[in-house]
Amino acid sequence: MNKKTIQVHSADEHSREHEGSRACMSRRHFLLSGGAAVVMVSLGGFPGMAQAVQALKADYPHQKIGSLSALKNGVPLDFNYPYPDIRNILVKLGVPAGGGIGAGNDIVAFNQQCTHMGGPLDGTYKAEHQVLGPCPLHLTTFDLTRHGMVSAGHATESLPQIVLEIKGDDIYAVGVMGLVYGYSAMTTKRTA
Ligand code: FES
Repeated sequence: MNKKTIQVHSADEHSREHEGSRACMSRRHFLLSGGAAVVMVSLGGFPGMAQAVQALKADYPHQKIGSLSALKNGVPLDFNYPYPDIRNILVKLGVPAGGGIGAGNDIVAFNQQCTHMGGPLDGTYKAEHQVLGPCPLHLTTFDLTRHGMVSAGHATESLPQIVLEIKGDDIYAVGVMGLVYGYSAMTTKRTA
């Protein structure tokens, strides 16, 4: 069976390779690292923020998910990445955002599964507030301008953010920051 080799970067290990059929990082590791990143985001523009957030990224093959010329302010596009069963949205928020790309640093992408208990967030984007939610199960809402931080509700973890790159007019997904609900470091399949 072919195995993928995935690089997972951590704050204390610049580059560590994991072999397996899925890339993943432990929930504990993400919580610890993600907590630090959230504090820095909330302080606004802390010099180490970009580096710290980057440290959570798991790299996956590049996948074209849209184009700059076709993207309209506040109108999200659905796409699946890095696996066919993982649903995400690409959206141009119209205001600068953490991890945002494009001329206005306002193009972002996030997973659409609630980090609390996996509730579906599909179709819940609110353009007027740049949030995803409330989740239909327990009403968690996520702030897409701040790396998917929880702004209200039961969840304690930020939404996984899809790392984006631009090449010409094309927008590519190139990695994931955070752990998609149902995936763990101990298994290579969904656990919930
Ligand atoms: S599953 Fe979304 S808030 Fe509980």
